[in-house]
Amino acid sequence: MPEPFDRLLNATADLDTPFAIVDEPALWANADDLVRRAAGVPIRVASKSVRVRSIIERTLARDGFAGVMSYSLAESNWLADHGIDDILLAYPTTSRAALADLVADDRRRAAITVMVDSTETIDHLDQLLGAGHPAIRVCIDVDASLKLGPVHLGVRRSPVHSAQQASALAAAIAARPGFDLVGVMFYDAQIAGLPDSSPAVRLVKKRSAAELLDRRSTVIAAVSDHTKLEIVNAGGTGSLEVTGADPAITELTAGSGLFTPTLFDGYDAFEARAAAYFVLSVVRKPTPDIATLFAGGYIASGPTNKNRQPSPTWPAGLALIGTEGAGEVQTPVKGKAARDLGVGDRVVMRYAKAGEMCERFDRVALVSVDGDVELLPTYRGEGKSFG
Ligand SMILES: Cc1ncc(COP(=O)(O)O)c(C=O)c1O
Repeated sequence: MPEPFDRLLNATADLDTPFAIVDEPALWANADDLVRRAAGVPIRVASKSVRVRSIIERTLARDGFAGVMSYSLAESNWLADHGIDDILLAYPTTSRAALADLVADDRRRAAITVMVDSTETIDHLDQLLGAGHPAIRVCIDVDASLKLGPVHLGVRRSPVHSAQQASALAAAIAARPGFDLVGVMFYDAQIAGLPDSSPAVRLVKKRSAAELLDRRSTVIAAVSDHTKLEIVNAGGTGSLEVTGADPAITELTAGSGLFTPTLFDGYDAFEARAAAYFVLSVVRKPTPDIATLFAGGYIASGPTNKNRQPSPTWPAGLALIGTEGAGEVQTPVKGKAARDLGVGDRVVMRYAKAGEMCERFDRVALVSVDGDVELLPTYRGEGKSFG
C-alpha cells in the first residue's frame, strides 16, 4: 500500500469506522504552502473550513497566520472565550442571544469584528442590542464580484459594490453611536473558489483580478474618509498570490487549503495535497465487483452536482454508482479494486469541501509522520453546531 494510506490505515486500525483522519505532515505542508503563496501578507484562518478548534489554534501558532475568520457570532464568542483575540465574523448575524453575549463581555467585544453591509443590518443590530449599547467593532463586506453587463460572476452577498456605496455606508456608520468601523472585506469567490478548469475561466479570473485591483483602491480611499481602517481583508485559498499582490490589502484569508478537499483539486497555483479523509468499512458484497460500505452519504453544500459527492480514494480505481451515489446508510462502490475487497475491509474517502466534513464526526484522528494518533474533538465533538 502506498504512502500515505499505509501509514494512515495502520495508525487507525483500532478505530471503529466511520471516522475522520487528518494527515499531519500533509496539513502542515499545506499550511507552509499557503504562507509561501501569501508572500509575507498575514493569513486569517477561515474557521468554517476547519471546524476543529485545536487545529485552528495550532495553525495560528505558526508563522504567517494571524487571526480567525469565523462564520457565526455564537462561534466567535466561544472562540474568544477560549483565548482567540482577533476574530473577523465574515457573515452578518441576526442572533439576539449571541449579540447579548458579545456586549456582555469586554474581552469578546475587543476581539470580535462583526460584518455589516447596509444600514438595514445596522438598524437591525441596534434593534437587537437595544438603545445605548456598548460600541461593537464592524467591518463592511464589499461585493467583489465581476459585473459584465447583466452577467454577475461571484457570490450574492453584499449590496455594496461601488466606492460611492461604500462611502455612503461608512458615513452612516460613522454617524451612528455604538459602532466602530474598523475594516473592509472583499471576498473574490470567482477567483478564490473556482478551479482553473479552462482557458476561459483563467481569462475571467485575470479580468476580475484587474478590475478588483482598481476598485479596491477607490473603495478603501472612500471609506478612509470616514474612519481609520485597521483591516483590509481579501482573498481565499485559490487567490492568495493574485490578491495578496495588492499592497492595499492588510491580510488574506485561507482555510480550505489546509485540508485540500476535492473541490480544491485543479488549481494552477498550488498542488492539491489532500490532508483530510474519512474511512468507511465494507459491510456486504452484492456482486464480486461491488462493495457496499456503511454510511458515507456526506454531500457537500453548494449547487448539488456530482462534484459535491465524496470520492473513493483508496483503494485506487473505485467509483460511486450513479443510481445510488453516496447513501444515507449504505454506499456501494464499484470497480476492479472492489473485487479484492471483503467484509470488514476499509475504504478511504475524500470529502468535497473542507471543514464541513467535521459536522459528521465527533473527532478527527490526527496521524503524525511516524504514525502516532492524536484524537482531536471537532466543533461537533465539543457539542457545538453553529450552522
Ligand atoms: C468571506 C470569505 N473569505 C474567504 C473565504 C475563503 O475560504 P477558503 O480559503 O476556506 O476557501 C471564504 C469562503 O467561502 C469567504 O466566505
